[in-house]
Amino acid sequence: MRPRHIAVTVALVAALSGFAPTPHPRGAGAAGAGRADRLVDSLLARMTPAEKLGQLNLISVDSDRASPAQLDSVRKGLVGGFLNLYGADATRAAQLVAVNESRLRIPLLFGFDVIHGYRTIFPIPLAEASSFDSAAVEATARGAAREASAAGVNWTFAPMVDIARDPRWGRIAEGSGEDPYLGSLLAAARVRGFQGNDLGAPDAVMATAKHFAAYGAAEGGRDYNTVDVSERTLREIYLPPFHAAVSAGVFSVMSAFDDLDGVPATANHWLLTDVLRKEWGFGGFVVSDWTSIEELEKHGIAGTRAQAGRLALEAGVDMDMVSDIYVHDLPALVERHAIPMSEVDAAVRRVLRAKVALGLFTDPYRGASAGRERATILSPEMRALARHIADESVVLLRNDSGVLPLARSAHTIAVIGPLAADGEDALGPWHTLGRGEDVVTPLAGIRERAGAGTEVLYARGCGIADADTSGFAEALAAARRADVSVLVLGEAQDMSGEAASRSSLDLPGAQERLLEEVTAAGKPVVLVVMSGRPLAIAWAAEHVPAVVQAWFLGVEAGHALADVLFGDVAPSGKLPVTIPRTVGQVPIYYDHMNTGRPGSPTDHYTSKYLDLPLGPLYPFGYGLSYTQFAYGTPRLARSVIGPRDTLAVDVDVTNTGARAGTEVAQLYVHDSVATVTRPVRQLVAFARVLIPAGGTQRVRFRVPATHLGFYDRRMRLVVEPGIYRLFAGGSSAGGAETTFEVRGGR
Ligand code: BGC
Repeated sequence: MRPRHIAVTVALVAALSGFAPTPHPRGAGAAGAGRADRLVDSLLARMTPAEKLGQLNLISVDSDRASPAQLDSVRKGLVGGFLNLYGADATRAAQLVAVNESRLRIPLLFGFDVIHGYRTIFPIPLAEASSFDSAAVEATARGAAREASAAGVNWTFAPMVDIARDPRWGRIAEGSGEDPYLGSLLAAARVRGFQGNDLGAPDAVMATAKHFAAYGAAEGGRDYNTVDVSERTLREIYLPPFHAAVSAGVFSVMSAFDDLDGVPATANHWLLTDVLRKEWGFGGFVVSDWTSIEELEKHGIAGTRAQAGRLALEAGVDMDMVSDIYVHDLPALVERHAIPMSEVDAAVRRVLRAKVALGLFTDPYRGASAGRERATILSPEMRALARHIADESVVLLRNDSGVLPLARSAHTIAVIGPLAADGEDALGPWHTLGRGEDVVTPLAGIRERAGAGTEVLYARGCGIADADTSGFAEALAAARRADVSVLVLGEAQDMSGEAASRSSLDLPGAQERLLEEVTAAGKPVVLVVMSGRPLAIAWAAEHVPAVVQAWFLGVEAGHALADVLFGDVAPSGKLPVTIPRTVGQVPIYYDHMNTGRPGSPTDHYTSKYLDLPLGPLYPFGYGLSYTQFAYGTPRLARSVIGPRDTLAVDVDVTNTGARAGTEVAQLYVHDSVATVTRPVRQLVAFARVLIPAGGTQRVRFRVPATHLGFYDRRMRLVVEPGIYRLFAGGSSAGGAETTFEVRGGR
C-alpha cells in the first residue's frame, strides 16, 4: 500500500472531527516549543546510545512497587517509563530515583490502562457511545484523567478507537462501535478529555489512540487474528477515528497486534510512517502493544529478536512495551551502524518532547499526592458524572403495553438473575482500580428507589455461564408472587475485553431458559441485558414485553437503571452497533453496500439467508424512549450545492407522546450513483434534543460536502457530483427522506 493525497485527507478528517491537526504541546506556543526543542537537543547531545535506547524502553511491574532491579535500571538510564505502576507514593518513589540518581535526571512516564475510569468506573466505552453525547464522553475522560493524575499516572492507553463490526470480538466493548463518524467524534472527545487544554496541567494525562490499525477487523472475531481489508475499507472505516484523534492533538499512538495485508502493524512502515506521520502530520510518538515487537518472530517476519526490534524501529515504533528488545538487542545493531543513530535519535526526540509537554521537567510528580488522590477519587462529583452518562447510555429496545416505566401500582418487584446483585460484573472489562464494593448494583439501585412501600424480592436463579438450574424454582416463586419481574441477565465482565472472543452471541449458561420460564409464569417481565457486546436475543425481542440494553454501566449502574426503570429519566440511548438475530449474520452493519441483488423476502435469487428474516434484530442508531418522535421531511436551504459547500438541513422533530424526552436525531446520506459502490446509508450528523410533550423542535444540521467524500477507483479522496438521498430519523432504518444534488468538481 502507498501513501496518498495528504492535503485532501487531512481536510476531510479535520472536517469530520471539527478540529485542526495540531499534534504539538498545546499552550506551549512558539516560544515554548523552541525551549522544548533546546532542552531535548541538549539532552540528546549528552546521551550515550544505551541511554537513548533506555528512553525507548517501557517496562511493567509485577507488584505495586518497582522492583530493586528495575530501579537499578532506572538509575542507569535504561528505562523511559513504567506501565501498571500507579498511586502517588509508588510513582513518586520511582520518579525520585530517575530525577535524583540517574545521570541525566530524565523523568519517567507512568502509563496505565485508564480506559473507562480509574477508580470511579464509568460505563464501558461501547455503552458511553450509546449516549451519542460527545460532551458527556469528554467529561468522563476528563474525570478519569483527574483521578489518574492525582495518583501519579501521566499517560493512559486510551482511547481505544478501533471500529468493530464483529460482536464475537470481545474488544468491541472497549470502543465506540461500528460507525466511523460516531467513532471519530468520540475519539476526539476522549483525547480532549484526557489531555485537557494543556497537557502540562497537573490534572491532564497523555492519551493514546489505539490499536493502530484495523485490529477490530480480526478474522472470525478471534482476538489477535489476521486482518485483510482493502485499502478503501481501511481508509473509510478503520482509519478515520485515528485521524480524528491525531487532529485533536493526541500525543501517542499504539501499534496493533494484528498483521494487516501481510505486514504486522508493529512493523508496518506504510501505516506508522507514511500514513500516520507523513500524511497526517502526527508529531507524537508510537508505542508498541504489549510484546508486539517480540511477536514479530511468531508472525514469521523476523528470525531473531534483534531483527524484530530493527523492523519495528524502522517502521516507526518509538517505544518498546515490555519486549525488552530495544534496550537489550538493539545496542549491538546501533554500534555496528546496522541501525543509523539518526533513527534512534528521532524516536528519542519524540519521547522526550512528550515528557516536556507533560511538564515533567518542571514538576516530575505533577502535584500527585495521597491527599489529592483522596480528595478526587470517587468524589460525589465523580459519581454524579458516572450516573449522568450511565443514564444516557441505557438503550430501551422494546416496551410493549407500557410495562415501563414501572407502575406505581407495582407493590412487589422480583429482581432476578446472576447479574442483579454483583458489583464486579457491572464494572465491565478493563476496570482498572474499580472495586465491586464501589458499585451500586441493579438490586441495590432498585431497592433504594422503590422505597419502603414496595417489596423487592431477589433470586439469583442461575449462574452466568453454567448449566445449573437448581435456582429456577426460587426465581419462579418470586416471579409468581411479584407484580413485575426485572431479570438482569447477560455476560460476566471478563467475557468481553481482551482475549475474550465468543463463538456464540447467546445468553450464556442456563440464562435463556430462566428467561423463558420466568416469562411463561405470565406476569410482566423486564429483561435488562448487561453485556460487553450485542447479544442475539431474538427470543426476548419477540416474547419479553420490555427489553433494556444496559451494557456495563460502571459504579452507578444500579442508580442509572433505577432512574430509567422507574421513569425518573426517559431513556435516550441509541445503539452504536447493530444487534444481529444470530451469530450467523455476523458481520452485519448498517452501512453495507447494496449489492446487485439486495435481499428481498419474495425474490429467491437475492442476498439473504434461507433461515432468517431480512435485516438485523435491531439496527444501528435504534433506541426507544417513554415517548415517541415524528420526523418532518428534511428541508434544505439549497438543494444544489458545490463540493466545497455546506449542506444546511432543517428537520422538525415532534414529540408526539405525553411526556418530555430526549431524542438523538440522526441524518444519513446515500450517494445514488457513484464511480464505486457506496453504502446504502452513512451517518453524517446527529443531535441530542430534549423536546417537551407535544412540542416540535427544529433541528439544524450543517453537513460539509466533504463528509460525502470517498476514495475513488484510483484511491483519490473525492466528492463526486450527483444526486444524494438524505434521511432524517431516529435510527439508521426508515426516516423522512429528501434528495439533494452536488454539482461540479470531483
Ligand atoms: C492491550 C493494550 C493495553 C496493553 C497494556 C495489551 O495487551 O492490547 O490495549 O494497553 O496491553 O496493558
